[in-house]
Amino acid sequence: EEEYTVSITVVGASGDLAKKKIFPALFALYDEGSLPKHFTIFGYARSKMTDAELRNMVSKTLTCRLDKRENCGEKMDQFLKRCFYHSGQYNSEQNFADLDKKLKEHEGGKLSNRIFYLSIPPNIFIDVVKCASKSASSTNGWTRVIVEKPFGRDYESSAALTRGLKEYLVEDQIFRIDHYLGKELVENLSVLRFSNLVFEPLWSRQYIRNVQLIFSEEFGTEGRGGYFDNYGIIRDVMQNHLLQILALFAMETPASLDAEDIRNEKVKVIRSIKPLQLENVVIGQYKSHKKRGITYPAYTDDRTVPSDSLTPTFAAAALFIDNARWDGVPFLMKAGKALHTRRAEIRVQFRHVPGNLYKRSFGTDLDRATNELVIRVQPDEAIYLRINNKIPGLGMRLDHSDLNLHYAARYPKEIPDAYERLLLDAIEGERRLFIRSDELDSAWELFTPLLKELEEKKVAPELYPYGSRGPVGAHYLAAKYNVRWGDTN
Ligand code: BG6
Repeated sequence: EEEYTVSITVVGASGDLAKKKIFPALFALYDEGSLPKHFTIFGYARSKMTDAELRNMVSKTLTCRLDKRENCGEKMDQFLKRCFYHSGQYNSEQNFADLDKKLKEHEGGKLSNRIFYLSIPPNIFIDVVKCASKSASSTNGWTRVIVEKPFGRDYESSAALTRGLKEYLVEDQIFRIDHYLGKELVENLSVLRFSNLVFEPLWSRQYIRNVQLIFSEEFGTEGRGGYFDNYGIIRDVMQNHLLQILALFAMETPASLDAEDIRNEKVKVIRSIKPLQLENVVIGQYKSHKKRGITYPAYTDDRTVPSDSLTPTFAAAALFIDNARWDGVPFLMKAGKALHTRRAEIRVQFRHVPGNLYKRSFGTDLDRATNELVIRVQPDEAIYLRINNKIPGLGMRLDHSDLNLHYAARYPKEIPDAYERLLLDAIEGERRLFIRSDELDSAWELFTPLLKELEEKKVAPELYPYGSRGPVGAHYLAAKYNVRWGDTN
């Protein structure tokens, strides 16, 4: 018998993130029996709403993971009965004290654990944390706060936000989400590397020629241009999602799987990255493009974006890690919106085979003949390794072929959404997949000088058509390091 309760208060309950991700993830966890026995969910926001109205709103966001399952509808009803609403201001201690009363009623005197999920703009994080910690934190269990980027716009504003949060919370109470860390294939990176003899010994400058971290989306910033224009793709995707993947990819072996050991290694490798040089960065912005009779808008066509905006919607960068393992190996990042496809992947290109017996069979294109390991984070998760192989037959002709681990074929069970894993970890107090404050600092230390330089020098982004493969500049950048982007082959 569990004698404790967990309440999850979603602050900003009617926002997009809450509707798209948080409520559906909570229901999925409930549906598969992963939530604690005694749990309560509260929506908190300014607008007036009854419990019934909240339930109605939430119910529209829920889907059955295994839709064939008959009792899913019943499960939804049970779940919705555990959802409540409390209307209040974000800076009113009194309103949070009223919430506290309601939470206590639900907790019925049991040991109470409380989570506040701040699904609100960062400029009100501190107000909420202040009120929640003063008036609605647990008195006999733990209180945790989940926050999500943007954590500031640069090193200074991020540090100020951290200082503000830490007036009311200790580091262990703060769960900073980078939802890419909750993606199945990102979590699997360490398993792939550290539990397979055939990979870890190759994981260094000795065998790896370059590493590519690629993020692309086939849609623009329609509808969120106002937010985006203040940040740009470097802050939106590179400084967090791609850098986190790089850290997991390149870190040294942690002393254990303990959260602190892993995060120590991530901080260490991020701090070993050389300062980013402007000449190793290409930025782009999408322009309008007409395709099959449809006109796709330019970034600056958005009414909330200034028409002379220089904000990048695309960026490519070459990063170098200054340590013994990675000296000289280019890590190429590329992230963009309004490109031809949606994809996130890691590509590892290995070196040429020294003294290759078969080099003649490859003609002049040795690059194409090297092994490449691809970890496709999404969509259609897969891990595949390109090898050279003899084309069956009497002649001696070679080609390349993939050893392919295709998740849909190998693991028929649907992969949980990143938010499910992260919410469950927050409930269980597992911090491995959350960003520690020194990690955040080091990420900003790396990107802030570059961002400032781009802005001070008013560097103009290279325009690329909506739906294209992005600016040509990205190819020149890669070519400078003898690299060919693997996703354009
Ligand atoms: C968010 C960015 O962090 O990640 C968005 O702010 C981006 O701009 C999104 O679209 C991508 O997430 P996912 O999980 O859809 O790849």
